[in-house]
Amino acid sequence: MYNIAVLTGDGVSAEILQSAVKVLDKISSVYNLKLKYNYVPIGGRAYEETGLPLPDKTVDACLNSDAVLLGSVGDWKYDTLAPELRPEKALLGIRKKLNLFANLRPVKVFDELLHASPLKPETAQNVDIMIVRELTGDVYFGEPRGIETKKTLDGREIKVGFNNMIYDEDEIRRIAHVAFMSAKKRKKRVCCVDKANVLDVSRLFREITKDVSENYPDIELSYMYVDNCAMQLIQNPKQFDVILTGNIFGDILSDEASTIAGSLGMLPSASMSDGKTPFMYEPIHGSAPDIAGKNVVNPIATILSVAMMFEYSFDKKLASDNIIRAVKETLKEGYRTKDIYHKGDELCSTSRITDIITDKIV
Ligand code: IPM
Ligand code: MG
Repeated sequence: MYNIAVLTGDGVSAEILQSAVKVLDKISSVYNLKLKYNYVPIGGRAYEETGLPLPDKTVDACLNSDAVLLGSVGDWKYDTLAPELRPEKALLGIRKKLNLFANLRPVKVFDELLHASPLKPETAQNVDIMIVRELTGDVYFGEPRGIETKKTLDGREIKVGFNNMIYDEDEIRRIAHVAFMSAKKRKKRVCCVDKANVLDVSRLFREITKDVSENYPDIELSYMYVDNCAMQLIQNPKQFDVILTGNIFGDILSDEASTIAGSLGMLPSASMSDGKTPFMYEPIHGSAPDIAGKNVVNPIATILSVAMMFEYSFDKKLASDNIIRAVKETLKEGYRTKDIYHKGDELCSTSRITDIITDKIV
């Protein structure tokens, strides 16, 4: 039996999780697996219920699970809350509490969606990138941080905001290992993306990554500045296999890379620890409050996140492949949610495309 903590947040969260659980139920019956879901709130929903975006009961449910499935958090209506009460704080909090330092964001282009990509079909076709984003360090967590006042030379008092981009050697080492291990199962290339022409922290990132690479003689290591990488992802994305990068660069590059695949609604992710705490799975897209409750959101990113759960947490590659095949067939037959719709396709609601995908899991 597997215990899955289901973290319900804001916006489209409830709808995409409903889709994911339908798929989980189907997998459970096809493979005769017992799955138990423990629903707990996070983000704005948790704030409404308990006054805190990440209540202890949510953290406990995660720690006591075999895997965590997260919808999405955030809503404009919480924009005026104090920083520590904002929904995003819960997401950062749970990543830290579960020690989820490695975020795997695969960018794979389905042939069926080439038309949805803003890139030329021949540029986007066969793109298959694994972004390995460090997730518990960098400016996201670095101290000191804050907004303070300071006196200018001419005596005025002005505000100053600051965050600290900081990585220690151990943090770099462990994420580099994840990238090289991932490349071992792929095309055996790692590109370390940083800003080493300007930032000291990036120079250390390179130095330690180079050092770790000595353990992986069969993996080719290259380096690229992040600004150049942003351009190369559009110009020639096929050159990349594994991209290894820090928290903030990974955040930005993964959103950019998602457009290659046609829609932010297509990309799943897995966040992993050293194995002592459960892993977490979530779509890379946000809570999209503007389309929430309308039964139009694309559930595929979350469904593919479930596929990653079976691969990485439960070691059930067959179940994982089964889900991916079902998604592929559904797309091949022309069923589309609005974000990936093209003239001639069959436009589907969230629940309809979920049912079609679920039926194809056999
Ligand atoms: C992501 C999101 C989060 C991040 C936000 C919601 C805090 O953009 O998972 O990519 O910046 O990590
Ligand atoms: Mg992001």
